[in-house]
Amino acid sequence: MKKDSSRSRRKFLQQIGATGLLLGASPFSSMASAKKAEERILTYEKPISSNDKIRIGVIGYGVQGHFDLDTALQVPGVELAAICDLYTGRIENAKELHGKELFTTINYQELLDRKDIDAVFICTTDVWHARIALDALAKGKHVYCEKPMVYKIEEGYPVMAAAKKSGKVFQVGSQRVSSIGYLKAKELLAAGEIGQLNMVNAVYDRQSSIGSWEYTIPKDASALTTNWDKFIEATGKMNFDAKKFFWWRAFKEVGTGVAGDLFIHLLSGTHFITGSKGPESIYSTGQLSHWKDGRNLPDVMSGVMQYPACQEHDAFQLTLQVNFISGTGGQEIIRLIGSEGVIEVDGNDLSIKHSYMPEAPGFGGYDSLFTFSKQMQAEMQKEYDAKWTAQQRKRKTKEDIVFKVPDGYDDHLNHMTHFFDAIRSGKPVVEDAEFGFRAAAPALSCNESYLSKKIVNWDPVNMKLK
Ligand SMILES: NC(=O)c1ccc[n+]([C@@H]2O[C@H](COP(=O)([O-])OP(=O)(O)OC[C@H]3O[C@@H](n4cnc5c(N)ncnc54)[C@H](O)[C@@H]3O)[C@@H](O)[C@H]2O)c1
Repeated sequence: MKKDSSRSRRKFLQQIGATGLLLGASPFSSMASAKKAEERILTYEKPISSNDKIRIGVIGYGVQGHFDLDTALQVPGVELAAICDLYTGRIENAKELHGKELFTTINYQELLDRKDIDAVFICTTDVWHARIALDALAKGKHVYCEKPMVYKIEEGYPVMAAAKKSGKVFQVGSQRVSSIGYLKAKELLAAGEIGQLNMVNAVYDRQSSIGSWEYTIPKDASALTTNWDKFIEATGKMNFDAKKFFWWRAFKEVGTGVAGDLFIHLLSGTHFITGSKGPESIYSTGQLSHWKDGRNLPDVMSGVMQYPACQEHDAFQLTLQVNFISGTGGQEIIRLIGSEGVIEVDGNDLSIKHSYMPEAPGFGGYDSLFTFSKQMQAEMQKEYDAKWTAQQRKRKTKEDIVFKVPDGYDDHLNHMTHFFDAIRSGKPVVEDAEFGFRAAAPALSCNESYLSKKIVNWDPVNMKLK
């Protein structure tokens, strides 16, 4: 179904198909830089799902488990078969929302044993992802695994091998990879709109307690109600700690910090847009500035990665930033900087700005020329004027464009639809196990670099630590 995008938002509003390239659509013009950028609304075709029934089981019914399930149920033909969670309050909540008859369990193996389940969603704490993924694939289920795909780098290899061997669809949950805004950025970059890519600045800032993972802890939280003994089967032995169960992201024993939570989205996005296989060196530094609530991972963190030149892209540097006490109020931006412009992806929307160097080298103005003798200045000016035409001294200009997704657009729904379409059609997904690992490994290496204060060297082609 094609979405209606004929609404006019500002002047110059035009439609451009998500797969249409910009090149040729906007000839060079001499628009003054102060002029408002042209704005376009992206359109997209919703992948069509047949009505073959697909029954799903959700493992981990916390915040994202709810969002993933609600989104999946919007895809035609998808039915909920079972929910598994460790916290008793969430089992009750599952029954309240989906009916008393729904099969629920605290033991995910029981859910995997059910023959009426085609696909599972793994929406647990990161430390459980790989183990459940391996068990699910062994039971012949299609898998939608939340990001980061794995908690430790070494867990990635068996998961990739099992996904390949199973012949089942395995998709990782960084939903922006299915965003039409990201697809447009990819097209613009491939079309050479910003010249040679040399840097990507990616930022995910927040400014709230919940944004910093201090989610509400239920009053009945205990070792019993959270099935703590089961929870720590995937970790070292630990005494019950409600924060480690409900604020797990902030603790390295169970979570992966800002790197596994948010760098991963920026890395997935950057890899999708550039087609990259990954960086060759990774350095990260962090500090605990504000959320001193017992957490043992930073709330302000930066990463610097070097991407080597390869068939897919020029050499570029990626800087990653997460700031949880950010006076910006929060932002999610990937800026791709090239020799002739910038693509700035802001959430699902994006803009492109151009800047060109003149063909002629600089001469005069803020230069050393005026410090020479009058005679030298005059002689050199004459030579310069003879060599370079007025045209060659000018910067070319090209109009800026803002691309917006239509109101109500949901990248999460696109991502889910890609997953279920792949199950029905047998077509591969973009964010498969290898893609998931190529993003997870450098993200997890940021924690390693932060803790060891060392540069991590990575072989992006063979996906191995060096
Ligand atoms: N794609 C996204 O944008 C996005 C957004 C948020 C979270 N996530 C990911 O989703 C996952 C869950 O995050 P969340 O915010 O929902 O966390 P959450 O704490 O709200 O929920 C996690 C749930 O997993 C359950 N759980 C843990 N171990 C289990 C096990 N062995 N068996 C069954 N249930 C188990 C817990 O009981 C809990 O209810 C994480 O991997 C996170 O990174 C992705």
